[in-house]
Amino acid sequence: MRQGQSLRMKQNLVVLGAQWGDEGKGKLVDYLAGEADYVVRFQGGHNAGHTICFDGKTFKLNIVPSGILRPHVTAVIAGGTVVACDHLLEEIKGLEDAGIDLSGRLWVSDTAPLVLPLHAELDALREGASGTDALGTTKLGIGPAYEDKVGRRALRFGDLIEGRVLREKLARIALHHNPLRRALGAPPVDLEALNENLQTWRALLKDYAVRVPERLYAAARKGKRILFEGGQGAMLDIDHGTFPYVTSSNTVGASAAVSCGLPFADTGKILAIVKAYTTRVGAGPFPTELSDGVGRHLAQKGLEIGTTTGRARRCGWLDVALLKRSVQFAGADSMAITKLDVLDGLEALKIATAYTIDGRRYESLPAWVDEATDVQPVYETMAGWSGSCANLRRWDDLPEQARAYLKRIEALCGVPLALVSTGPDRAATFATRPDVFVG
Ligand code: IMP
Repeated sequence: MRQGQSLRMKQNLVVLGAQWGDEGKGKLVDYLAGEADYVVRFQGGHNAGHTICFDGKTFKLNIVPSGILRPHVTAVIAGGTVVACDHLLEEIKGLEDAGIDLSGRLWVSDTAPLVLPLHAELDALREGASGTDALGTTKLGIGPAYEDKVGRRALRFGDLIEGRVLREKLARIALHHNPLRRALGAPPVDLEALNENLQTWRALLKDYAVRVPERLYAAARKGKRILFEGGQGAMLDIDHGTFPYVTSSNTVGASAAVSCGLPFADTGKILAIVKAYTTRVGAGPFPTELSDGVGRHLAQKGLEIGTTTGRARRCGWLDVALLKRSVQFAGADSMAITKLDVLDGLEALKIATAYTIDGRRYESLPAWVDEATDVQPVYETMAGWSGSCANLRRWDDLPEQARAYLKRIEALCGVPLALVSTGPDRAATFATRPDVFVG
């Protein structure tokens, strides 16, 4: 019997989105962080946006892990992320202004590559360049920063804090970037201005640099509880997502261990967050996208506006053909379904279970989907409910049709449903079963 009990976090846990981001990870991480000692952001940068509401206050975070709002938690930005110092400083200031004490509670890995202003400039130049297909990136420089990491020329957080050869490293970056900038009509990198920025950031951020793998390894040995927080969603994974309309890092559960330099077993179980319908920002395939009244209902009721960029999110029915695969490659042991209340008032609900592409049936999206001209979802239709799920906190209180909808998703995905969220507030969350995190 499923009841509205509170959740016990019995071991370390990775929390990630199973769709194209914006599934409500921030809210769930904040909720689960009540049981954690450390909350670690393991991929992406300030392209992510997390909104957390409690006690009538709303916080918007991009790079600082949501766990920072729990006073007992140490928030960690791991080496697999990319860090924009100017943005990080703004977020630190916002939190301090809100009365949150950060002393000793925010760690930044010394191996995290920096996102420099030249990365954001390159991202925006490419997105705006004629003759190229825009990917709809956040234009914050995330992709170019990861390119410099893989190109082995990135400046890392540890270089900023302790490096003695910053100028030489900057010159190497400029050597790579200046020809690109010239081709896109931009002036060469202003090394003097950049060096000045770095000196300012070094002075303001030096106390946050930490050897994260060593500290987390020791914490795990002492039995401390660690929650790993993803930034984007599984379908935006660089290898397994809808390439090339993806972000530039691995968003799947396995990447948490790599990012933190921890043994794989230390990352524990994986919880996939699933929004009760689908949204996407940026370009790329979205077979269940709706441009009708239902699409507008989801956008308006779900407040589907990007936290980071203010862009309107594209909205559509739940795509389980996609979800079934993403929970597999993301490694999900269980899932949480969020924003169930947004479906209140819809007469019928559709779930995509397969596709017809250029006249042929496919059970999942093929790798070449970006080239397909006619992608039609194959839908299953379920009854909607009258009344509201908003802020309900017990399984038995949900309308019968809402329970049927959740159970159908669980059955189609083959992953147990652990948590349900029925509103933005921390309190509008309940666990469906007590045993789900122990496997
Ligand atoms: P980038 O991560 O800025 O390079 O953008 C690549 C793609 O990922 C674009 O479609 C973005 O809209 C998408 N994206 C990046 N971060 C997020 C996020 O936090 N939520 C949803 N989509 C995101």
